[in-house]
Amino acid sequence: MNQLRPRVLVTRPAFADIVQGLRETCEVAHRESQASWKPGELAAAVADCDGLLCQLTDPVSESVIAAAPRLRVISTISVGFDHVDLDAAARRDIPVTHTPGVLTETTADFAFALLLAAARRVVEADRFVRAGEWKQWELDLLCGHDVHGRTLGVVGAGRIGLAMARRARGFGMRVLCHSRSGSNPDVEAELGVEFTDFDTLLRDSDFVTLHVPLDDRTTHMIAAKELERMKPTSLLINTARGPVVDEAALCDALDRGEIAGAALDVFESEPHPDARLLERSNVVLAPHLASASVATRRTMTQMAVDDLLRVLAGQPPKHPVAS
Ligand code: GLV
Repeated sequence: MNQLRPRVLVTRPAFADIVQGLRETCEVAHRESQASWKPGELAAAVADCDGLLCQLTDPVSESVIAAAPRLRVISTISVGFDHVDLDAAARRDIPVTHTPGVLTETTADFAFALLLAAARRVVEADRFVRAGEWKQWELDLLCGHDVHGRTLGVVGAGRIGLAMARRARGFGMRVLCHSRSGSNPDVEAELGVEFTDFDTLLRDSDFVTLHVPLDDRTTHMIAAKELERMKPTSLLINTARGPVVDEAALCDALDRGEIAGAALDVFESEPHPDARLLERSNVVLAPHLASASVATRRTMTQMAVDDLLRVLAGQPPKHPVAS
């Protein structure tokens, strides 16, 4: 092994032809397993590395960073970076890079697909037909909620939230947005949306869709009180991060009929949704898939590889996380 070449840990299976690009200048240790890391395992694997190409299932904690004295860059193949201890990286001046922008439209497509599936009971209908329960056309068979003409509440008016708003306008929906950075008159004028306070959004929306990053301020941003404020006919869509919603409170609210249903791509403890969610026919579940088109996942991987190589070559990253 050439000691002058930087050493990079690729934590999980990733597109081999793209990861191959790393081998031109780096020694690559590619772990071809999806298994969760056992305590101490990731720290040991990264200990002699200069670069880390990780995914959102890799807990890059303070102790992992401390175990890697040579580490010069952490590049995650995800837009979210709540799995990386940013403070610990900053204390060591290690840039953390991610993949914003390239998954916006794909993620919004999926969030809208979940909205439609929950509103129009697509998954229930599929199960019904497969189970041989379909006997005849009936006036009230599997009736759901209209989407057109209703009100969508977008929580988090960043790239993905606004992409969701654009889709909703195409469906003739009224769109309310809430952003912690306040209202944006340019966006209001361009997209025909209205910025409101959080309570108004919860109270007036027929669909509430979450597009905030996970941090201290957004953890359990939707809990018992917020669910109580929503309409009993409303649906909650979460493609952001599981802990943005208090999952136990959501189950209670569904049990009490405080909201009409939910469509969830992310969970507090993945891959283990609260068992009560699995029982409910008015909940659509997906395994954290929102950015999962082949083209987008490949682009994300290339972007993360490129930024990692950039930093190892002594250049500033193009996509550092904004902490
Ligand atoms: C997906 O959840 C991502 O953060 O890219």
